[in-house]
Amino acid sequence: MSIHAYPVTGSIRKLLRSEVQLFADHLLRLDKESRRLRFTHAVSDEYVRNYAKTAADPGTIVYIYTLDGVVRAAAELKRMGNTWGDMAEAAFSVESEVANMGLATELMGHIILSARNRGVKQLVLNCLAENQKMQAIARKYNAELHIEHGDVVAEIVPSRFDYMSLATEMFEDRFILLLSALDSHSRKLKDVA
Ligand SMILES: CC(C)(COP(=O)(O)OP(=O)(O)OC[C@H]1O[C@@H](n2cnc3c(N)ncnc32)[C@H](O)[C@@H]1OP(=O)(O)O)[C@@H](O)C(=O)NCCC(=O)NCCS
Repeated sequence: MSIHAYPVTGSIRKLLRSEVQLFADHLLRLDKESRRLRFTHAVSDEYVRNYAKTAADPGTIVYIYTLDGVVRAAAELKRMGNTWGDMAEAAFSVESEVANMGLATELMGHIILSARNRGVKQLVLNCLAENQKMQAIARKYNAELHIEHGDVVAEIVPSRFDYMSLATEMFEDRFILLLSALDSHSRKLKDVA
């Protein structure tokens, strides 16, 4: 989707439940302004730490971009309710060191695929009206944008799942454990260096 290629040295995959701390560390590393934009208001470290734990909920799927074993960008898909239904919510975070490389655009493609495969008909993205960048990314996926209570709500309608969309996600998921092990190895190498 993006004309940019994210750095070939990193990889995109789903976060494992056992890796919630890596996700928390990423969110805590966001600079003050990015954190405010991500949560639509200023939040404390404690709030972020508690929030990160929701990544292990059965109704949440988190895609991560890792570089040298460290999570540098993430995209979250959250269902609304106890089962996957017509609506789900998405959120994105990219650390400034890897910003403007097309990562959020790329991650959005993964989120839409996962939403599609779970029968989601309306993917909602809440962001501050000033967040032109996120709105630009949503528009690339034909999102419909409207203002609600001063914030911008972007709505994306994923296509109905089909054999190819299911096969694509299943194929990507086969590499999660391998990539996670490689990330863990990279972190260990850094620790001993
Ligand atoms: C918003 C955010 C996720 C974008 O991540 P990113 O990886 O840098 O985004 P990408 O590189 O995929 O795409 C950025 C696009 O926005 C465009 N853009 C950049 N600044 C812009 C601006 N001020 N106005 C409009 N578009 C802008 C870029 O041109 C690019 O589009 P292009 O690929 O067609 O050139 C990241 O900046 C971030 O984490 N922000 C803080 C948290 C947040 O805002 N989350 C969204 C709310 S949930």
